[in-house]
Amino acid sequence: PIQVLTTIDDVRALVQRARAEGRRVGLVPTMGALHAGHVSLVETALEHADLVIASVFVNPMQFGPHEDLGRYPRTPEADTERLEALGVEAVFMPSVEEMYPDGGRSATLVTAGGLGMVLEGRSRPGHFDGVLTVVAKLLSIVQPDIAAFGEKDAQQLFLVRRMVRDLDLPVEVIGVPTVREDDGLALSSRNRFLQGTDRQDALALSRALEAAGAAADRGVEAMLAAAQGVLQGESGVRLDYVAIVDPRTFLGAGEHHHGPVQVLVAARVGDVRLIDNARFTIP
Ligand code: PAJ
Repeated sequence: PIQVLTTIDDVRALVQRARAEGRRVGLVPTMGALHAGHVSLVETALEHADLVIASVFVNPMQFGPHEDLGRYPRTPEADTERLEALGVEAVFMPSVEEMYPDGGRSATLVTAGGLGMVLEGRSRPGHFDGVLTVVAKLLSIVQPDIAAFGEKDAQQLFLVRRMVRDLDLPVEVIGVPTVREDDGLALSSRNRFLQGTDRQDALALSRALEAAGAAADRGVEAMLAAAQGVLQGESGVRLDYVAIVDPRTFLGAGEHHHGPVQVLVAARVGDVRLIDNARFTIP
């Protein structure tokens, strides 16, 4: 049976035993309400490690004061069952007090810097500092050989890789492709809040990415216009941003950019904020 660990000490003890046996350790950080996207992360981690630990922690530090921390879905029993069925040996489900014992007033945090203030970071100030701080803590608690993150959260994945490099953290970060519904909608724990016609309207995000891809032959401006056209043509969708970045730097791709690009979209559908992204090549 899966071990449900709630303290940092218990995680350290488990990992210490595993290491003594020469096992490779993998970490899959999540906020729970697990879906097939998370499952794909776990399956990838199991290919690269002998002992996989999943964490389920809704991290208050990465939510803004007006965001959905209070209504973020919490399904710990279903999550535990799902992880057990996948062959995960332990799930770390700490309390907020265990992770932030000083009432969240710890003096030290990891800051994402300038790249944490654009795109998602511009719409969600402080979000990436909260993400990087909790990911750094989880990496420090588990000290895994590998950690899996989804490409769905492209800026998060980029910033985690950047932190690992900048701080020389001894872990290999593995990016996992976005898992989608059959009709293209990227899986997200927040999809369950899409009401009535919202579910259909939400397809505008993946359709916008597709339209951008179809315009790749004509360059960055044409791709942006194509994506914007799809998103602005949908009355139930409030566009937050469409951006095209160079995946190596996450900086905006210029008008004459050639080679790989990443198209990023964020929009509100009903009262749910959704993001999606895809990679293309401009010939
Ligand atoms: P959460 O939203 O639960 O996502 C956990 C991991 O699952 C992230 O790496 C995310 O990119 C990945 N994921 C989500 N939807 C996916 C999909 N459709 N396909 C593939 N992977 C997907 O992201 C977080 O939690 C938090 O910010 C966290 C990293 C745990 C720090 O608190």
